[in-house]
This record gives sequence, C-alpha cells and structure tokens, in this order.
Amino acid sequence: MTSREVKNNIYSVGAIDWDRRLFDELIPLPDGTSYNAYLIKDEKVALIDAVDPTKEKDLLSNLKGLGIEKIDYLISQHAEQDHSGAIPKVLEVYPEAKVVANEKCKGMLKDLLSLPEEKFLVIGDEEKLSLGKRSLEFIFAPWVHWPETFLTYLREEKLLFTCDLFGSHLATSDLYAIDEAKVYEAAKRYYAEIMMPFRSHIQRHLARLHNLPIEIIAPSHGPIYHRPNFILGAYQDWVSDEVKNEVVLFYISMHGSTQKMAEYLISALMRRGIKVLPFNLTKTDIGELAISLVDCGTILVGSPAVLGGLHPQVLYAVYLANALRPKTKFLSFFGSYGWGCRVLDILKEMTNNLKVEMIPPVLIKGYPKEKDFSLLEGLADEILKRHRESQIIKCGG
Ligand code: FEO
Repeated sequence: MTSREVKNNIYSVGAIDWDRRLFDELIPLPDGTSYNAYLIKDEKVALIDAVDPTKEKDLLSNLKGLGIEKIDYLISQHAEQDHSGAIPKVLEVYPEAKVVANEKCKGMLKDLLSLPEEKFLVIGDEEKLSLGKRSLEFIFAPWVHWPETFLTYLREEKLLFTCDLFGSHLATSDLYAIDEAKVYEAAKRYYAEIMMPFRSHIQRHLARLHNLPIEIIAPSHGPIYHRPNFILGAYQDWVSDEVKNEVVLFYISMHGSTQKMAEYLISALMRRGIKVLPFNLTKTDIGELAISLVDCGTILVGSPAVLGGLHPQVLYAVYLANALRPKTKFLSFFGSYGWGCRVLDILKEMTNNLKVEMIPPVLIKGYPKEKDFSLLEGLADEILKRHRESQIIKCGG
C-alpha cells in the first residue's frame, strides 16, 4: 500500500492485509483487515501506532516514500501486536523516536516487545504534547478491549485517532467509509467480536467524547470515518440497553429431532411477528452469530443430549455467547434426549455472565410429537409475552 494524505500533512501510512482470514487464531476475517498507522508532519513528526510485524516493510516503505528521515514521537495507543509489533523495527530505523504511551501501555510494551525503559515518554490522561503548530491530546479509554488503550485527539484538525475503537476488519482501497452499508456490517462484526464484552466501558467513553468537536475519526482497522456521526450513532445504538424484537436461535441436531423442533419454533415465532435469526451450528460462521447477538431480545439454544450433556459445538457457541456478554434479556432451551441428561444444569452454569431471565425450556424424549409441538407453541407464547412486558415490543406491536 502507498501512503495517502488524510488532510494537512497527516498521512495514512499503514498496511492492508487483503489475505488474512483469521485473527488471534480465533476470529474469522471474511474481508481481510488493515493495520492503519498515521503520520503527522509538523515541526515535530509523530507516528500514531505501527502495524502488525508481518507488514513492517509496508510501513517503512511508506515512511521512506514520504521522505521521512526522523520521527520524534511514536504514539503507541494500544500494546496488542497488530499495532505494536513493528515498533522495534521502526525504532531500529528511527532511533531518535520516543515511544509515547501511558504507564500501563509502557509496561505491556516492555513485556511483549522487550523495549528498554529509556525509549519511553509516559503521558497522562488529558495531557497534551506539542508538535509545533498543532498538539496531540491524550484521552485514556481503558477496556476497548485491553486495559491500557488511549485515544489521541488533534484538536486543530478536529481529528480523533481511536486505534481499535470504531474499527472494522475490512480490507478496502477506500481511504474513507464511502460504502456505509458494507462498513456498517464490518464495524458491527468487529464490535460484536471484540468490543461487546466491554459495553459499559464504551458507554462511558462515548459520553466523554460527546462534547468534543470531531470531523474525522481515524481508527486503526478499516476505513476512516469522514462522517463521524455514522459510526458514533451506530455505537450509541449497539451499546445502549435497548434490544430488538429478535430471537437468535442456534442449534445442532444429530438425528433430526432437534432440527424438527428448531423448524417448528422458527415458524411459531414468525407467526407471532418476532424476527428469528437461526443458526445451524454445523454451517455457521461464528462471526455472523456474534453480530446477531448484538441486538437480540432472546437467545434460544437447541441441542440433543450427548453423553448426558450439550453437543460440543453447542457448548462452544454457548461459551462464546457467555464470553461476549450481549445485552440479551431472555434465554431458553429446546432439545431432545434419549434416556437422561443434565443439559439444563450445564446451560445455566455456562451462562453466568449473561443478565438473562430463563424462560422455561422444552426438553423432550425422542422425536417430537403433537404434545411436544404444543409445548413449543407455549415457549413461543412465553417469548412473545416477555418481549411485550419488557417493552421490547412497543405498544402491543
Ligand atoms: Fe487491533 Fe486490539 O488490536
């Protein structure tokens, strides 16, 4: 990738990773990603973040292309290696650069990259650093998604650098978020997979940003937001306490019994005007499941009994849902067993992070029969009732 000017001697100098398909050996990246770094040329030269170590040559080539011979400050907003991994190489080429970080980030950079103490300039929350005509202001934003992260505000340009916050795993040649529908999906996936467990922290950070004049938001993954209200509004919605009249229904079926129950429930909920997002876990991109959890009012888990417990793939999905801590209000279960099981106990134990009310489940023996379909109708009725009572469905809708 070549560098591109964002505005007034501020350049995007990072790298696009078109081919990456897995992050942290866990998260699918259907659209690749980018590791954005930004260079500000003023009387002093500042580099905001570095890139993943696999892309350090791109960063150095972009800096060379701009004729950069000296970097005064390397602002390290977040110690995770996709932004910090190339710092040792940058310091090798630009030995005068001071690594600007908060105390916690400094400690993590020392642990992860063995950077020496004398390389650091430690900054505090709301502290300013003059670059000459313009100054950087630092805004600590812990837990988006690590404890050390901070944002950097360039007041003279109304430009906010946010590292992971507001990012999207999206490899695109667009410098800006032009295709908002596509960026919205990628940013929501990113929020669901990485930021959602820290929803309450992000609520606080958004409140703090509320009165800041912002014209551009420059995250460290995905395109830059030249219409910041687009992403700020989306985040306000995602982190709010409001859920939608939606049921996420994920399940596995081994011999068709749980499948039949899932199909029946999908149609019973649809008949009641509830949006259903079904996921047969044998065919599911786990990222799609995470996105659906952002807004849903109810989670329905379906599993046959396997060795007395949940099917391992259901166990994995429940573990993820619990770890991601969606704001979902209700949880229930449906499934079939042959001779005995403790699936409900396991489900309760594994969802202890979720602030949900358990709706009585439907657990049947063998293939579903007429009386079992009546139970499923009852479960759909209960979900509708709870959605109405908790105002998820407004005004008797
Ligand atoms: Fe993009 Fe948390 O690193």
